[in-house]
Amino acid sequence: MKTSKLVNEFQTIFKRTEKPRVFFAPGRINLIGEHTDYNGGHVFPAAISYGTYAIAQTRDDQKLRFYSVNFEERGIIECDLTDLAYDEKDDWANFPKGMIKYMCESGLDISTGMDILYYGNIPNGAGLSSSASIEMVTGVLVESLCKLTVDRVKMIQLGQKVENDYIGVNSGIMDQFAIGMGKLNHAILLNCDTLEYRYAPIELENHSIMIIHTNKQRTLAGSKYNERRAQCEQALADLQTELSIESLGNLSIDDFEAHKHLIQDDVNCQRAKHAVYENVRTLEALKQLQAGHLEEFGLLMNASHKSLQEDYEVTGIELDTIVEAAWAQPGVVGARMTGAGFGGCAIAIVEDDKIDAFKENVNKIYTEKVGYEATFYTAAIGDGAKEITEEELV
Ligand code: GLA
Repeated sequence: MKTSKLVNEFQTIFKRTEKPRVFFAPGRINLIGEHTDYNGGHVFPAAISYGTYAIAQTRDDQKLRFYSVNFEERGIIECDLTDLAYDEKDDWANFPKGMIKYMCESGLDISTGMDILYYGNIPNGAGLSSSASIEMVTGVLVESLCKLTVDRVKMIQLGQKVENDYIGVNSGIMDQFAIGMGKLNHAILLNCDTLEYRYAPIELENHSIMIIHTNKQRTLAGSKYNERRAQCEQALADLQTELSIESLGNLSIDDFEAHKHLIQDDVNCQRAKHAVYENVRTLEALKQLQAGHLEEFGLLMNASHKSLQEDYEVTGIELDTIVEAAWAQPGVVGARMTGAGFGGCAIAIVEDDKIDAFKENVNKIYTEKVGYEATFYTAAIGDGAKEITEEELV
């Protein structure tokens, strides 16, 4: 949908005549480093061109009015700056409400109400971080409309707090970080323990990154996400009986193998193994990419998927079918699930002139096995959350 149309929509819905401001926050893919963020390891995500637009303007009172073009049937959801408690009946609007609540509580001077219209083109339930995208677009719009200067990492941490404390998903910092700090044509290698990061150009020559949506929807709140995190925490506690480590991300493969007997439960040991090996793979993947070794990078993606399938057990028939079908196609350098898993999306690096055949063949195998189709998108790597200027409006 065009931003100019969204501006009109804003004026109609909220019955306002003055020109609103326009903001955008992307979604994200993760190239490698899955379920490592909350284990103090590394991740390697990138912001994508799909995301959430927010059209917004301040008000003269303290009311907050939210409207989503994606959930028109919910109409305007209204609350007051002085009462930002979670409320189930506010549904999707709890994400922006939570963000504004924690921005206020962090001491920022937010004293004016706002009208905000949202529109997202990230496929629903795709695991491309639509919720973090809503949080971050809200962060940047509040920062601008209220004339604040908010440290970007601080804003990212507030977004994570919304997930953890307001919504109840114990997610790590990857999604908000990728969305808040994204850079055109670059992925971000982030150390989730120290928050040190660096950008790596993604130049794939005659290849593209395909995003393949299983169309199996899921929410993290309803998944085994929190259980996985708890299993890793228990494994860490067992290891800490003899090792002085802060997180699984501190462990080399050798250290892990020498001490894994300390982990009391076999399943927890499997989960920890994934976290440790995946962290090492992520650092290796960056090296291979920087050396221009795309084939090796692809093999690490494949190994990541296997580990998420066998040791972390977060893939499921839908993602496994897509990824295994992708591996069998000509021109595919690597493929894996991306994000939390349990449905959602996979990614594959595919040679450009093989993309049409890739889509057709993978979709055929998928539909035959799962009973419904997959959806294919080409990923463009874009910038992080920002205001869209007048000249950029379409
Ligand atoms: C979700 C969470 C992230 C991360 C991934 C798995 O996207 O929000 O913090 O844990 O799953 O890598």
